[in-house]
Amino acid sequence: MAAIEKTDPAYAGQALYTRRFLKVYDAVIYGFNSPVVWRCPKAKLIGLYDAHVSDCHLDIGVGTGLLLDECRFPVPAPQVTLMDLNPNSLDAAAQRLTRYAPRTHQTNVLDPWGLPQCSFDSVAMCHVVHCLPGTIRCSA
Ligand SMILES: C[S@@+](CC[C@H](N)C(=O)[O-])C[C@H]1O[C@@H](n2cnc3c(N)ncnc32)[C@H](O)[C@@H]1O
Repeated sequence: MAAIEKTDPAYAGQALYTRRFLKVYDAVIYGFNSPVVWRCPKAKLIGLYDAHVSDCHLDIGVGTGLLLDECRFPVPAPQVTLMDLNPNSLDAAAQRLTRYAPRTHQTNVLDPWGLPQCSFDSVAMCHVVHCLPGTIRCSA
């Protein structure tokens, strides 16, 4: 995929994830943001991953890949696909998860994904909705 245009509404939500920021991401997000701001500690998220990841998993908005690195897959060699708009995140997570030989897919989650239909048994998208354009507020 070509680099996203700065005028695209989705640009701002992924622009933060530079190589430099990704080096401190785990400490900032899992040391402070997730437990304090979101009130959801890492152990809770790892527990959800442990309970739901399958042997054929799609992860959307991967950051550094920490959750996939620390969770337990049901098989030793799961098929893992990493989807992210930001190539830095894809690189960081893919390097960290080399042992699974993950497939990477650079795309905006708000656009058509360009992946085969019905091709995954589990899909996770953790800590991503607040990165997307628009309001989180429910319209109902
Ligand atoms: C806060 S991080 C979450 C990382 C990881 N899931 C976690 O929970 O630690 C958000 C990730 O979503 C990606 N992202 C932001 N906007 C996106 C979009 N429109 N489409 C796909 N990925 C996006 C960012 O590049 C970043 O890697």
